[in-house]
Amino acid sequence: MEEMKEKGEPAGPARGKMTNKVTDSIIYIGVNDHDVDLFEGQYVVPNGMAYNSYVIMDEKIAVMDTVDVKKADEWLANLEEALQGRKPDYLVVQHMEPDHAGSIQAFVEKYPETAVVGNKKTFTYMFQFFPGMTLSEQVEVKSGETLSLGAHTLTFVFAPMVHWPEVMMTYESSEKILFAADGFGKFGALDVEEDWACEARRYYIGIVGKYGKQVQAVLKAAAGLDIAVICPLHGPVLTENLGYYINLYDIWSSYRPEGQGVCVFYTSVYGNTKKAAELLAEKLKAAGVPKVVCEDLARSDMAENVEDAFRYDTTVLATTTYNGGIFPFMQTFIEHLTERDFQNRRVAFMENGTWAATAGKVMKGMFEKSKNITFAENTVTIKSALNETSMAAIDALAEELAAAYK
Ligand code: FEO
Repeated sequence: MEEMKEKGEPAGPARGKMTNKVTDSIIYIGVNDHDVDLFEGQYVVPNGMAYNSYVIMDEKIAVMDTVDVKKADEWLANLEEALQGRKPDYLVVQHMEPDHAGSIQAFVEKYPETAVVGNKKTFTYMFQFFPGMTLSEQVEVKSGETLSLGAHTLTFVFAPMVHWPEVMMTYESSEKILFAADGFGKFGALDVEEDWACEARRYYIGIVGKYGKQVQAVLKAAAGLDIAVICPLHGPVLTENLGYYINLYDIWSSYRPEGQGVCVFYTSVYGNTKKAAELLAEKLKAAGVPKVVCEDLARSDMAENVEDAFRYDTTVLATTTYNGGIFPFMQTFIEHLTERDFQNRRVAFMENGTWAATAGKVMKGMFEKSKNITFAENTVTIKSALNETSMAAIDALAEELAAAYK
């Protein structure tokens, strides 16, 4: 998150004010959540979270998704203001995860005559989350089907596993707007200015990273659409330079490294492995490696470290033998990588052990099923503390890794 603003920083309208026009007939009615401690129960969000929702005003009125139930009252007030005394005809549910679907019941209680639009799976999950809830009308759609609101026409594009099986995106053709569900979302509330790419990348890799294939399929479908505006369910509305965001999504979902650099991730019980990791990082910097990251896995944000491992082309993992395996934070970290289909990267190991320095072998074994991993020829073995032999091994590893950038 330390990076500076990158080009393509959006100037979307969905910032600060709670009721806001995306276009003359599409109104933003989402909410900012600064009370959330861990988003989805695991991600720190120092700048909060936005749950986006939109209303399309036409002969018929469609509400696009709800918000987390904690913010139901605020959202319903935004909706009422946008409606100007009218009633919504449709509630379109693109995603049933509770950060978006949590206020469906509150909505239905306030507007019982509104038809709810979703697909087969949407309704299955809806009644699992809200057992006993009754809807006056259920409109079940298939991928590619359309719904006319008058001047606006919605086309539903199923996007399974981006990020749940029922997810669908919605393309509005008269104004060329893609309602992208979780796609193109980011961490962070909309009343805080921050770089888009950094928190969008941490969000994408953490939450959707495993489903690159499915994201590629959606990008292929989206390539056939003329898109002027992207309205995601998190983060700002994207109105300019859309190629910048789409290109990043293409890189992330195809598991290509976005940048050249070496990330050294370590765990250290008494500081000896830390010293070795930091020494390697210094040598890499001195050798001119374009970007060097060095992080203690026990004392930094796991999601940001996972993000960096996916962002750069080379990762070095340094840990100790522990209970016959490896230190727990390293074990968890590697599991985060492999379960997200970590691939197309170079990986090197540093191991430390007083009587059984076998961590390198254990770590390597954890990548057994990963595709296209190139392991460095040099592995650094430390017996308790750095000595001449292990320092020479660090030199050799630094030289090997740096050579790729020359
Ligand atoms: Fe933003 Fe998958 O929920």
